Amino acid sequence: MAFVSLEQIIKDTIIQKASPIGFDEFMDLALYYPAQGYYSGGAQKFGERGDFITAPETSDLFGYTLARQCAQVLRDGQDILEFGAGSGVLAAQILFELGRLGSLPKKYYILELSAELQQRQKETINKVLPELIERVVWLNTLPQNFSGVVIANEVLDAMPAKRLIKQADHFSELGVDCQSDQLSWQPFDHAYTNDKMLLPNEAGVGYTTEVNERAMAWIDSLSEIIDEGLVLLIDYGMGRKEYFHPQRFEGTLRCYYQHKASDDPFKHVGKQDITTSVNFSDMADQAKNSGFKIAGYATQAMFLISLGIDEYLLAETDENRRVSLAQQIKQLVLPSAMGESFKVLAFTKNRQVKLNGFKEQDLTHKL
Ligand SMILES: C[S@@+](CC[C@H](N)C(=O)[O-])C[C@H]1O[C@@H](n2cnc3c(N)ncnc32)[C@H](O)[C@@H]1O
Repeated sequence: MAFVSLEQIIKDTIIQKASPIGFDEFMDLALYYPAQGYYSGGAQKFGERGDFITAPETSDLFGYTLARQCAQVLRDGQDILEFGAGSGVLAAQILFELGRLGSLPKKYYILELSAELQQRQKETINKVLPELIERVVWLNTLPQNFSGVVIANEVLDAMPAKRLIKQADHFSELGVDCQSDQLSWQPFDHAYTNDKMLLPNEAGVGYTTEVNERAMAWIDSLSEIIDEGLVLLIDYGMGRKEYFHPQRFEGTLRCYYQHKASDDPFKHVGKQDITTSVNFSDMADQAKNSGFKIAGYATQAMFLISLGIDEYLLAETDENRRVSLAQQIKQLVLPSAMGESFKVLAFTKNRQVKLNGFKEQDLTHKL
């Protein structure tokens, strides 16, 4: 059978439907279509040779520090569940440090949509921590009656979002059409309505933004499987007021191809990453509606500092290693790097705990 490119598959989908598809549907196909989607295909993606660098790819200290937060709440016999584990480095860092702290989870579950990444994660963990590989279990569906810590680093931003555009007196969905064999934006001809979504109704005509219904549904599904524990969501994003700032007229959609950012999702289909920033107020509202208690919200910088990331630097005796660790910490905490654009949102179920990660800062009131 002749090879059909992902771009053509998407065009055919639209043509067969004889109407534009939602941007969330487009993003789902572009990122997760079997074998050819960005996350399903074999591209390098993470790290210097890929398209973007995430915090665990930047430094082992990210995972070690996160492990300290896990160690505070993990009880004997409890588990960790990581979503979208990328190359597997974060899992390796957390397991390594929890081993050092004597707080290993019973199981470290990974729920990863991409079979190719699951394979890569197995290789990473087997290479650096062969003695712990037995504890790591890959899942294809949510586990039941989970107790412990759930982690999702840069996962919400990769969940397919809807794009909305302000018309005269309402928002409508900005769909994806195929005209003259080209993918292009096309507003739906009816108003977007969803009681859960608070929108900036005062925005001017043409104001474009995103809503992430799938991320909210995902939080709701977590509430059904967690008996007791903590959820830690780490991602780039902001509270609602900043998300819908009038100056953010073109929304938060970004595409990454070989470390270059663009706002054109119709280029390099299946070869480039597509993301939207996280509206943490929506996520917190959904968590509360689903029965969770918000346990903290802070910048990544203050979260890592509260947990003592600097102690790793102080403990390093080798001068060259210390210089390199200092550089890595800067990347994780400086406002000009990842420190302020990335946030940590924590919520708990059936667990009262004052988390160490929010000792120095808790911006929950800003959500
Ligand atoms: C930007 S990458 C982040 C990878 C990794 N967490 C890191 O920090 O390096 C996004 C990851 O989220 C995964 N993902 C997206 N939606 C998911 C979902 N609903 N369940 C599990 N994984 C998901 C993707 O397959 C991909 O591995």
